[in-house]
Amino acid sequence: MADQTQIDSFLSAADKAAKMILETVQQDGFIDCFSHLDADGVAAAGIISKALHRLDARYRVRVMQWVDDKIINDIIADKPHLVVLTDFGSGYLQLLNEKVSDTKIAIMDHHQITAKVDNSNFAQVNPHEHGINGATEVSGSGVTYFVAKALNQKNVDLAPVALVGALGDMQDKYDQRSFGGLNELILKDATQAGLMKVEKDLTFFGRETRPIHRTLATTTNPFIPGLSGEEDKALAFLATLNIDFKQGGRFRALSDLNEDEKKRLCSALADYMLSKGLHVEVSNLIGNNYVLVNEESNTALRDAREYSVLLNSTGRMDRPSLGIAICMGDRGAALEESNNILEDYRKNINKYLGWVTEKPERLRELDNIYVINGEDYINEKIVGTVSSIMVAGLANNQKPLIAYAKVDGDNSFKISSRTTEAALQRGVNLGDVMRLASEKHSGKGGGHNIAAGAQVSLDQIEGFIITVNELVGRQLKGEILAGDNNT
Ligand code: C5P
Ligand code: C5P
Ligand code: ZN
Repeated sequence: MADQTQIDSFLSAADKAAKMILETVQQDGFIDCFSHLDADGVAAAGIISKALHRLDARYRVRVMQWVDDKIINDIIADKPHLVVLTDFGSGYLQLLNEKVSDTKIAIMDHHQITAKVDNSNFAQVNPHEHGINGATEVSGSGVTYFVAKALNQKNVDLAPVALVGALGDMQDKYDQRSFGGLNELILKDATQAGLMKVEKDLTFFGRETRPIHRTLATTTNPFIPGLSGEEDKALAFLATLNIDFKQGGRFRALSDLNEDEKKRLCSALADYMLSKGLHVEVSNLIGNNYVLVNEESNTALRDAREYSVLLNSTGRMDRPSLGIAICMGDRGAALEESNNILEDYRKNINKYLGWVTEKPERLRELDNIYVINGEDYINEKIVGTVSSIMVAGLANNQKPLIAYAKVDGDNSFKISSRTTEAALQRGVNLGDVMRLASEKHSGKGGGHNIAAGAQVSLDQIEGFIITVNELVGRQLKGEILAGDNNT
């Protein structure tokens, strides 16, 4: 975990980026911001928007899947006084230096830095530069939060949003789903400001908004055989515990249970799981829940995990401005509309999952990987989510899953690969696999060991898949492929 020297060095980089922003605002310059489209990226976009709004700056924020020629061409055409990139950028330093080296650019990212670039126009804030782990200790929205805080102490009220982003990137990897490193500092800000509290409880998804039996039936982490996927059995299970599942005509949520009911439910679940031999899984039942105390009960915004899924849906369904508005404090029309978007997003995911399972040949098994070709049926912005969900269902086996779909209006495929902790233990690192395979097939790719992505042209995909299968095979044999193994 990061030590004080590393943290200080990171914070001074955040100060520098804040200065660059302030100078631009003081000269009444125009600031063009771009952010990544997942939950973390939308949260980062919300934080920078609020911070710039508070400075009365002239700015615009757009949310994209990646830094590509479109962004570069816009920068060249519009000549903004400052470009801000959040939750991406560090993988594109070389490209930026080749194409727009004269533009002032502030980058707030937590992805691997792929090349060192010396350009005084660029201010980069990235934990990896200071020996801090960007996969687990701070997210893109967290990095953006530290810059916002350097701009104005008032921005401490954005600390909960930064943690929502971190949860979107699954950074609650420490004991009992707690945060570590810089995220811990953000949590301290959030609790000290009286905006957030941590509750140790069942961590099933849907704590504020889902009926209890549905949280039991839909949990995949932990997966509970006999309850997961079986709503009626989950309901019967609750009935045996004398827990009312309805109150005033409305289904109760986990957050509605009193202490005594929670205890009964936890211990009954633990007994049940132990009776099924699920000793390891029992230890995952209880963990930290992050409650945004000023949000209304039984809304998605009160539970930070549910909040992050809401943001994710706005980004992936082409409505990121709704997510940004929510992060900035809008609780009116934007919230109502994003709840509808979330529902549509869930319907789409179910539709895609149904499509994949409808024909067995849609899930191909090769020697070392599973492959799903989403053709032009699965939306390329949602193929990552499909990949994450499908790999959880294949958890017992240790082959990574590679899913891809055609990019709308482009001659390329978007590829999203996911794997499990078990496969990581055996040496799999998808970040290396995606990067090396896309280099070989004239594409772009990279990411974390457990989740990584790529983009290659249509005619390269068959070769790309063969290469991925080969590279994973080599990793499984213990070979460490050339490149950076840091996640
Ligand atoms: O671009 P970025 O790093 O923010 O994307 C992270 C993605 O990888 C998330 O969508 C998340 O689902 C996935 N992920 C994961 N397990 C991790 C870290 C990230 O599945 N430990
Ligand atoms: O897009 P997807 O959710 O599959 O991405 C998983 C991870 O891989 C993310 O952290 C993303 O930023 C990274 N990625 C990357 N380069 C790409 C595509 C994805 O670094 N070309
Ligand atoms: Zn991120």
